[in-house]
Amino acid sequence: MSGLRIAVVPGDGIGVEVIREACAVLEAVAAGSERSLTLTPFDWSASTYLKTGVSMPKDGLKMLSENFDAILLGAMGDPRVPDNQHAVDILLGMRFGLDLYVNHRPVRLLDPRLCPLKGVEPKDVDFVVFRENTEGLYVMMGGNFKKGTADEVATDIDLNTRKGVERIIRHAFQFARANGRKKVVMSDKSNVLIHAHDLWQRTFKEVKTEFPEIAASHLYVDNLALQLVRDPKQFDVIVTSNMFGDIVTDIAAGLQGGLGMAASGNLHPGKISLFEPVHGSSPPLAGKNIANPIGAIATASLMLEHLGFKEESACIDAAVAETVRAGETTVDVGGPLGTRECAAAIVARLKA
Ligand code: IPM
Ligand code: MN
Repeated sequence: MSGLRIAVVPGDGIGVEVIREACAVLEAVAAGSERSLTLTPFDWSASTYLKTGVSMPKDGLKMLSENFDAILLGAMGDPRVPDNQHAVDILLGMRFGLDLYVNHRPVRLLDPRLCPLKGVEPKDVDFVVFRENTEGLYVMMGGNFKKGTADEVATDIDLNTRKGVERIIRHAFQFARANGRKKVVMSDKSNVLIHAHDLWQRTFKEVKTEFPEIAASHLYVDNLALQLVRDPKQFDVIVTSNMFGDIVTDIAAGLQGGLGMAASGNLHPGKISLFEPVHGSSPPLAGKNIANPIGAIATASLMLEHLGFKEESACIDAAVAETVRAGETTVDVGGPLGTRECAAAIVARLKA
């Protein structure tokens, strides 16, 4: 992997354990390829924050974009930082500060045993959610009035811009076109959010005309939640807002076997991108060798695919799928193995 430079931020809790295994998989793939890979660790975490008071160095984002092709992050969150300030600074700091407007979350069922729905096969769960990642309800605009009194008022603003809505919708269609996907569903709540989500409606109607070969349709987000569990095979590409995307990708993770299986990328095409498993730091599971490493390993594979290393990515995906079918997994997805042993089973298949 000629000169691929990855910044690795394991973070907190199980993030540390699953990223260790994802890095082992990346090293194994690199060993079998002529291309070289450098993994540079950064100890940005709750522990560092508690020790130094610094969540991310001041020049952190500049340093990352100047020196790396991508960032691989584990998870952020620790009960010793009750307001999660370091997580906000680091994770949301990178999403906003690097303008990573695409949250790309692939949803794939690898084995029927993993799906909580009856009679659902891997071919029935194979879609991608594009979540807007830089605005919406995540901008932390709003405030309190008369805080702590009986008359308290609290607001959080759902901020949507024409530019922001347009670029994520266009990205979803471009992805569909480039990857042989035939359908794009846009999901909003425009029957109630008559200003901001009307903007989504109008923008979607305009952008879809650039992609006449793609079937474009709309679902209100409550109906989308229902349809995802009623009949997931109808979906190909879904595009939605930041908060709705957060919620529906947890439902979608459930279809794949749970949060331990789900991968994600935070992208700005042409710029540095951030890859992280969908799951959190899960403090109760940390340090016990029980966390599922597959979400992080699938995330590493998504990262390679995004960086143009399609063959290497396909090798990882095949090794993961075989390992899952062989039942060599952690307990959350029905297997008998620990974090390290599950990852070792994947690495052994890669080497073979
Ligand atoms: C996710 C997470 C984050 C989000 C949290 C940790 C801020 O739930 O990546 O889905 O809400 O985006
Ligand atoms: Mn989430």
